[in-house]
Amino acid sequence: MQLSTLNISHVRNLQTTRLQFSPLANVVFGDNGSGKTSFLESIYLLGRGRSFRHRDLKTVVQSGTKELVVSGTIFSDQNDVSSSLGVKRTTEGRFEARHNGDGLRSASQLAPKLPLQMVDAHSFILLEGGAMQRRQFIDWGVFHVEPSFGGVWRRMQRALKQRNHLLRHDRMDREQLVVWTKEFVSVSDAIDRHRGNYLADLELEIRGISKYFDGLGVLSLEYLSGWDHKIGLADAIKADFDKDRRLGKTHQGAHRADLVVKIDGASAADRLSRGQLKRLIYILKLAQASLHKKRTTESCIFLLDDLPAELDGRHLRQVLGCLNELSCQYFVTGIEKTDFKDLLVDIAHQMFHVEQGRISLA
Ligand SMILES: Nc1ncnc2c1ncn2[C@@H]1O[C@H](COP(=O)(O)OP(=O)(O)OP(=O)(O)O)[C@@H](O)[C@H]1O
Ligand SMILES: [Mg+2]
Repeated sequence: MQLSTLNISHVRNLQTTRLQFSPLANVVFGDNGSGKTSFLESIYLLGRGRSFRHRDLKTVVQSGTKELVVSGTIFSDQNDVSSSLGVKRTTEGRFEARHNGDGLRSASQLAPKLPLQMVDAHSFILLEGGAMQRRQFIDWGVFHVEPSFGGVWRRMQRALKQRNHLLRHDRMDREQLVVWTKEFVSVSDAIDRHRGNYLADLELEIRGISKYFDGLGVLSLEYLSGWDHKIGLADAIKADFDKDRRLGKTHQGAHRADLVVKIDGASAADRLSRGQLKRLIYILKLAQASLHKKRTTESCIFLLDDLPAELDGRHLRQVLGCLNELSCQYFVTGIEKTDFKDLLVDIAHQMFHVEQGRISLA
């Protein structure tokens, strides 16, 4: 998948513009506060319908205006055709999106049309943050290779909400509780199977991608379902009933899954240096993109904010080498044009300069 053109209107400080991109490397450089991250945010808005920086659209929509619009032409490797995609968001939170003129109901329908991977200074959260970060990472992968997963995931959320609601009620409806618990167990089991299968494949991809990166050790994944598999979820929930009732929430299930990423058998988050953790995050996302390409034949698009600040020269070359090998289009930002000069000698690329919100070819 490639983004061939992008129109940006009323995103943060960016001037309204239309840009045309290289199918491989795109570099955006400029001073602090010029608008580089906002440029990546515009692409993210097109692929996800929301910002990676703020939940509140009011901060993303340009001051003094009420709505932002991003649109573009995407080229599919699989079908060898171009299509148009557009997103409008308002300060009041309204969402509108179109693909080839047809309205899309939700942001989740955008995601498969423009599969994005993002790495920035906050990406450590994937390994150092709470389990939700890692569940989102796994579920992104499962959803993109198995679109029906979205429906199962929503059913799980609904059953969980209903069950927790019943647990909190003074005069709990036991019949309803049995119904929703049964549904919750059934969809949790389905989600667990999807996640387990996906991670088994991802682990193989990780081994392949690790070859591009030296010196991290042997990588492995330990997937934790969210309940004790030896007794099964139905029995685990039965055993937890008093605790669940007392605290008004369900303690075991697919909503409690986690993933431990290990290096030579020990937790990577506890063991690695900051630079090594950063490389590991690239490996995980590149492995996900590689698996995505095998399953869907579409390559992911990478958004890499302030790349030169994140890795040293040798490791930067390893990341870019891997992206080129996977034929992924990427958008990287940095302060100085010269930071990219040696990196992109043999790579077809397009350079953009941002100055006070104005993006121009460089
Ligand atoms: N809603 C908004 N409307 C107008 N301008 C905004 C809005 N939100 C942020 N800005 C401004 O947009 C500018 C660009 O911010 P951005 O984070 O994109 O810069 P950057 O080039 O990534 O900088 P850095 O190198 O420091 O990361 C900043 O000066 C910021 O104050
Ligand atoms: Mg920035």
